[in-house]
This record gives sequence, C-alpha cells and structure tokens, in this order.
Amino acid sequence: MQNLIRKNILKLSPYIPGKPIDEVKRELGLKQVIKLASNENPLGSSARAVRAIKKALSQINRYPDGNSFYLKKALAAQLGIAAQNLIIGNGSDELIDIIIKTFVGDKEEILTADTTFLEYKIVSCVNDRKVVTVPLKNFRYDLAGMAKKINKRTKVVFIANPNNPTGTYVDRFEVAEFLKRIPKNVIVVFDEAYELFVDAKDFPQTLGRIDQNNIIILKTFSKAFGLAGLRVGYAVARPELVRYMEKARQPFNVNYLAQVAAAAAVSDKKFLEDTRRTVLKGKQYLYAALEKLGINYVPSVANFILIEVACEGTYIFKEMLKYGVIVRDMKEYGLNNFIRVTIATMRENRKFISVLRKVMNK
Ligand SMILES: Cc1ncc(COP(=O)(O)O)c(C=O)c1O
Repeated sequence: MQNLIRKNILKLSPYIPGKPIDEVKRELGLKQVIKLASNENPLGSSARAVRAIKKALSQINRYPDGNSFYLKKALAAQLGIAAQNLIIGNGSDELIDIIIKTFVGDKEEILTADTTFLEYKIVSCVNDRKVVTVPLKNFRYDLAGMAKKINKRTKVVFIANPNNPTGTYVDRFEVAEFLKRIPKNVIVVFDEAYELFVDAKDFPQTLGRIDQNNIIILKTFSKAFGLAGLRVGYAVARPELVRYMEKARQPFNVNYLAQVAAAAAVSDKKFLEDTRRTVLKGKQYLYAALEKLGINYVPSVANFILIEVACEGTYIFKEMLKYGVIVRDMKEYGLNNFIRVTIATMRENRKFISVLRKVMNK
C-alpha cells in the first residue's frame, strides 16, 4: 500500500481542526456545548449576507461565476483598489495553495515562522516544497531573523499578521525594514485573517504597498464577517501576480452562495462594528479574569488568546470538553503547556472562565 502513496503525503501530519459542536455533543452525550476553538464570529453572520443567500437559493442549479465579478466589484469599491488586484478563494486556505502552486518551483523554498498558522507547512508539504522556519521571539515573528534566512532558493515568505496562534503582530516599522531587505524575486505574503480586530495604530498598511513590492495580502470572510461555513477569502496583489494565480485556480472554486453572501457582507459596517466591540469587551474581561486566577496569557490584537496552563494543555482541553467547552489544544503547534481560546459573547466568556477555574483546581 505504502508504495502507492507519494513520500511527502506519507510523512504529512494532517491539519487537526477545532472540534465541531455536534461531534462533542454526540461523543460526550452533552446537550449544551460552546465552541471557542476556531476563532469564529460569536455573533453569527451579517443579516445582509443571510438575506442575500435566501434570495439566491433559486439559482443554485447554475454554475457560479468563475470570476466572482460582483464580489470583486464590491470588494474593489470597499478597499479602493481595482478588481484586477483581486483573486477570490475557497477560504484563504485555498489561496495559500494557489500561491505555492503558482510561484514556488521544484528546488525553491518557503520561509515562515516556526509557530504560526499550520497550513503554510501542510500545503507546502502536499506540494512537495521545502519550508524553512525561524523561531518566534517573545511570541512574535522575528522579521530581522527571517531576513537573514533568505537565500537564492527562497521564493515565498508567509507572515501571519496578526499571528495565529499567538495573537501578536509585527508593526509597520519592522515590516518596512524587512521589505528593504527582500530581493526582487521573492514574494512576501501578509496573511491578515485577523486584521479587522486590530486596534493598534502602528499596524502596517500593506494595501498601500502592493504596487511597489511583490506583496500578496490574504484576507478572509471567515472571522470578522462570520462566514466561515461558506469558505471564502481573497488575495490582493499587483494585477501581474493575480493574473498568474488565476491560472492555477479551479474554474468554479467559490460557490455561488458564498459569492453573494460575501458581496452583501462587505459593506455591513454595523455588523463589523458590533463584532469588534464584542471582541474588545470580551478581551478586557478575559484578561482581568485570567490575571485574577494568576494565569499567564499572551496579550492579543486578534479575537483569540493564547493561555499558558501550568500542566499539559491537552489535559485542560480534554477536561474542559467534559463541561461542554471546546478550546484549542496547542500541542500540534509545539506549545505543550498552552491552550488557545476564541473571545466570544460575555455569556460564553464567563462559562469559559468558570470551567477553566474548576479544571485548573482539580
Ligand atoms: C492566519 C490564518 N490564515 C488563514 C486562515 C484560514 O482562513 P479561511 O477560513 O479563509 O480559509 C486562518 C484560519 O484559522 C488563519 O488563522
């Protein structure tokens, strides 16, 4: 059997997603379960998006527009860029794959941090491409250290900003310094899945740089827009780069309902504001509660918090499941004494703290 399978697939550890609510209910016989494991939106989805889907249901016998014309139009207007700067993906996950397929050749390499979004490594491995990693410094991407690691084979650099799972960010000064040191034949990807939660003034404005640099910015509708179940994300770059990425994309990669919902959600400022306010308020509550319990955490600009537990994170994860609270075990990230929790509604945040207190005192 083993000789049927490509070597890189044999050695691959698959991505382990946050446990779904129904699975936990089924397995543990629980009625009430809250999921704080995948950085989803606690408020649900934009009502505009839901209305748009209902209206579009009668047309799902047709293939979607492969070019996502109306979604690109809505995004271009919102971001002040041209439609030609945009490519839409089946989640930003798919765009990571498209980027590697489009730009990274046989003997070329991918550079990223050692503790970051796992898909960069997994998708590189599926595509049989080598990944070089640089350790985080104090839970943050070490851009100076990464610049030193660039060599003739480096082709694409992935920077999650803010970083998942740490919630930290690199600022505009660090990014400006880093980009000065990047050769012309290297592409830098800024994965900004959590950018809409950031309230730091020195967060880099990468959009303004796409014309001068080989930069690709990744964004998603899965987090602040609350559309994770639909799978839709986008990349912004120079039209010359986008054109080639379009060639590596499946013709109907983004389904019709995802396109109409995302197009409707783009301009839903009120939903975004409500989401941001909920996350900021929840964060202050969680910080204070954790401090009161004497539990260390990494301050976060995103909608989740990395928490240090005084024992195996896997133990805390499993114990919390018994109380119907799903957090994320950080073992697969190499952070054995940590869990990651998504900031949610106040009711859910309180439940998380009360269960964490019980489990830590056991
Ligand atoms: C940093 C980062 N990038 C990308 C993604 C994937 O997002 P999407 O749902 O758009 O595929 C995630 C999801 O958790 C993420 O944390």
